[in-house]
Amino acid sequence: MARSPAFSCTACGAVHPRWAGRCDACGAWNTVVEEAPLSAGPGRGPGPARGKGVALTDLAGDEPPPPRTRSGLGEFDRVLGGGLVPASAVLVGGDPGIGKSTLLLQAAARFARAGLPTVYVSGEEASAQVRMRAQRLGFGDAPVRLAAETALREILTTLDAERPALAVIDSIQTMWLDTVESAPGSVAQVRAAAQELVSFAKRRGTAVILVGHVTKEGQIAGPRVVEHMVDTVLYFEGERGHQFRILRAVKNRFGPADEIGVFEMTGDGLAEVPNPSALFLSDRERATPGSVVFAGIEGTRPVLAELQALVAPSPLAQPRRTVVGLDGGRLAMILAVLEARCGIPFAGLDVYLNVAGGLRVSEPAADLAVAAALLSAREDVALPPDLVVFGEISLSGALRPVGQTENRLKEAQKLGFTGALAPARSKLGTEAGMAVRLVPDLTAFVGDIFGAG
Ligand code: TYD
Ligand code: MG
Repeated sequence: MARSPAFSCTACGAVHPRWAGRCDACGAWNTVVEEAPLSAGPGRGPGPARGKGVALTDLAGDEPPPPRTRSGLGEFDRVLGGGLVPASAVLVGGDPGIGKSTLLLQAAARFARAGLPTVYVSGEEASAQVRMRAQRLGFGDAPVRLAAETALREILTTLDAERPALAVIDSIQTMWLDTVESAPGSVAQVRAAAQELVSFAKRRGTAVILVGHVTKEGQIAGPRVVEHMVDTVLYFEGERGHQFRILRAVKNRFGPADEIGVFEMTGDGLAEVPNPSALFLSDRERATPGSVVFAGIEGTRPVLAELQALVAPSPLAQPRRTVVGLDGGRLAMILAVLEARCGIPFAGLDVYLNVAGGLRVSEPAADLAVAAALLSAREDVALPPDLVVFGEISLSGALRPVGQTENRLKEAQKLGFTGALAPARSKLGTEAGMAVRLVPDLTAFVGDIFGAG
């Protein structure tokens, strides 16, 4: 049987029947290579393959938890899963200018002060610039060793000699290896550089933090494989013009994913926000139509956020649907359910939906709060100001209970809310002083709140 040769893309792994200059799956150039056929080595052929075998161990056993170092920047430590783990590789992604260098310089300085030998390599700024920034942040005297360099071979030699406990590489896109032919920032360079740094981390026990720029499509530039190579992927996000920044763990081998840390940008660097709910609600105008407080969960902690909706007659044949901080597909679904199950049409109406403070909400538990904001805006009726809302909407119009009801209610109560709207069958605890109204479906909800819409 003749085996046709297989080709695959080294950037995204897509399989191609024949060679091509450009991978049509990921769009990368010169990444399609022929896969080497499996060689007929020893142990190949019919019968069981013979290798040396591997040692098997039991699942039971007490492994001590990895030793962690805390920077003292509580929100940063929390997102890492409780501190930095030795020999771990962390990728911090974010838009250019969002504050990655500032955050990592602050973190590096604190780790250095906490006793970790720390090296900070900047491929984007001169040492003098980094030094100036450190002074401005009040870390001018922190024992961080500094280099401005992009040649990874040289950097690795130095790191091998210095053996720091933490190395920050800002950014992975500026690093280049002489063994790879393509230009710095190209897929091949980024991947090779990340590979070298991750293997250095594992070999030497150094924790390595890589900074990665995010492309317009919202992905860390370079192959997705960088995300697979590292232990932890953090995204630093926020709206420009807003002073809040959110560090979100999207992958963490050493802690919970989806954990967030909230920071506020100030003249002298990033300040932690230990109580984000209070911050996200601080500018709230009381009792405005279209404004609803959603009791959400981000990672391991509850976060209250204000959803704002505006509904207005549209001059356009295709009315506008503009969403900031929520999934547009989810909004479309909720609009469709409101129309189909409750007979409330949004045709001919522009819909704007926003999460105040630059928070991004991805929980389906926000569905009911979105519906409430839309209806409140459409009917021009304000909801009671002391009410929080949460619950998932199914396509049938029924409401589904969501996880961590108790935590949501507790947080709401802590912030002075007295009422909640939640799906029927929600698991309630003993929330003294919280009037929780359980609603079975969207129609009942509409009748309850808006007198049958
Ligand atoms: P920077 O950390 O350089 O962003 P990135 O590394 O993601 O490209 O920050 C961008 C600019 O914002 C820089 O001029 C410093 C300023 N900045 C502050 O003044 N205060 C802050 O708290 C932060 C985070 C940034
Ligand atoms: Mg930077």
